[in-house]
Amino acid sequence: METVPLSLQLNHRAITLKIAPSLLLIDMLREECQLSGTHQGCDTAQCGACTVLVDGRAIKSCNRLALQCANQSVLTIEGVAPNAHELHVMQQCFSRHHALQCGFCTPGFVMRALAMVHEDVPATPHAVREALSGNLCRCTGYEGIVQAICEGLEQLRRVDG
Ligand code: FES
Ligand code: FES
Repeated sequence: METVPLSLQLNHRAITLKIAPSLLLIDMLREECQLSGTHQGCDTAQCGACTVLVDGRAIKSCNRLALQCANQSVLTIEGVAPNAHELHVMQQCFSRHHALQCGFCTPGFVMRALAMVHEDVPATPHAVREALSGNLCRCTGYEGIVQAICEGLEQLRRVDG
């Protein structure tokens, strides 16, 4: 099988891999890099469970070739917490508002929420619900997720100044 080199930043570390040109980003993360926190919930780019950040923007990794991320910075849920003993502020908000049940969708929601910090998304339930239109949850009814993201946006923007 033909392979090509790919260099990128993954969770704050520079890496180089040899991959098939047709490899999807989600498969690179899960199978080549053992980062199984990025979930696959559909094969139609609709559920958002596979959301990661590429250069700070939320994208669906099931809908992106790994090669398209050459020389870019990819952040997955495994790279979000500041250290092994502490959750990220947004993760703390999800925990505080009971914003998960089975947890399958949660990494995608957290990544989407982190992208919102630098988007023009007001920290209001209506705006957050609109911004979440590409992420589906089968368990929670969204109420806790929306509350968690509103609080997380307020806290993180305060820190950003
Ligand atoms: S697995 Fe990518 S959107 Fe569902
Ligand atoms: S918490 Fe189960 S799908 Fe969202």
